[in-house]
Amino acid sequence: MTGFKVDRVREMFPALVSKDEQPATIFLDNPGGTQVPRMVIEAIGQAMASAASNLGGLFPSSIRAEEIWQSSHQAMADMLGASSMREIIVGPSMTTLTLHISRSIGRTFNRGDEIIVTRMDHEGDISPWLLLAEDLGLVVKWLSFNRDSWQIEVEDLKSLLTDKTRLLALNFASNLTGSINNVAELSSVARAAGALVYVDAVQLAPHRLVSVNELNCDFLACSSYKFYGPHLGILWGRESILEKLHAYRCRCSSDELPQRLETGTPQTELLAGLEATVNYFQWLGELCGYTGSRREKLAGAYTTAIAYEDQLTTRLIQGLEEIRGLQIYGITDVERIHDRVPTVSFTHDSFTPDEMSQTLAKNGICAWTGHNYAYEVVKHLGLDVEQGVLRLGIAQYNTESEIDTTLGVLTDLLK
Ligand SMILES: Cc1ncc(COP(=O)(O)O)c(C=O)c1O
Repeated sequence: MTGFKVDRVREMFPALVSKDEQPATIFLDNPGGTQVPRMVIEAIGQAMASAASNLGGLFPSSIRAEEIWQSSHQAMADMLGASSMREIIVGPSMTTLTLHISRSIGRTFNRGDEIIVTRMDHEGDISPWLLLAEDLGLVVKWLSFNRDSWQIEVEDLKSLLTDKTRLLALNFASNLTGSINNVAELSSVARAAGALVYVDAVQLAPHRLVSVNELNCDFLACSSYKFYGPHLGILWGRESILEKLHAYRCRCSSDELPQRLETGTPQTELLAGLEATVNYFQWLGELCGYTGSRREKLAGAYTTAIAYEDQLTTRLIQGLEEIRGLQIYGITDVERIHDRVPTVSFTHDSFTPDEMSQTLAKNGICAWTGHNYAYEVVKHLGLDVEQGVLRLGIAQYNTESEIDTTLGVLTDLLK
């Protein structure tokens, strides 16, 4: 194994402690949401104790709430590589933020304009755009993924672009197949054709450091509960675009960025947790021996975690491939491990995903089944939409022995 100190990482997570002499729960449901480190839990509690006031008051708890709002936005700007915190919009979830901003973006479109959505995305980056198209009379074009590479191909995108294309909405990494798209290249092609590019990085952000300014996209959304944080969504938008968008907001609220695109009272305690989530990655970078700026430490944390996660993923894929009748949907070639996040979905000839999941659950292993809102992917693969797949996803706190235990339970069931 690499120099990744998984024992130190695990100590951070209260949910990983075994209780009543039972083995600790094995969390492989991570693509649906990760467990939370102590520093995040404590920050949320402290904010509720000391900053449970609305923003804008002249008294200490309100001033503290304002500080939390500022520093959490700055922390996310650092984490995403944004030019400033004016580009960071925080809300309850990625889906809510996307539904909200899609209304503002739609104000710049006309009936008959074209938008492109993909068959690889989570519904959170499809349905808002389909609803917008319905409201405005837009033409929807579907971009598929390649069944061999498991990625979206630039040539397929080019064949859909016309002088009427206004938007490309695509994911960075699939929440079902785990494959990572070449977003920088796809964005450049779409933007050169005059389209805005909206990227769903919800599944990528737990496993890769995002650098929005290297991607050529216009918007990028993620959710902190997928990377050890609280239930919040975060949206980055290019400042020059955000400041021109029509904002759906209360008349008397601030017209400054990013407040003009954040409606209502902020979830201050969760914002405190969000900043602590970034601090967790920073702590991890330091633990792995990295120094320098916050972003340098974050980069170090990701670099070390990627090497560790890749080894566990390789072990998982190789173990699953030895089970007869089991079919993995996604990249299995270990030479291409860098083209995927550690989310591995599969079906079996004789057992349904729910049957496999029930057996795993009886053995203290958490895993998701179904379409997981990757509804188009499941349909495109010709799978039963209700049953979908069994999905296992690795996080920083998982261990080699957890992977082996899981493979052992599955092998016993499926042999
Ligand atoms: C790829 C992807 N996009 C979007 C979402 C929706 O995120 P949220 O729950 O924050 O709306 C998810 C959640 O699973 C996801 O995996």
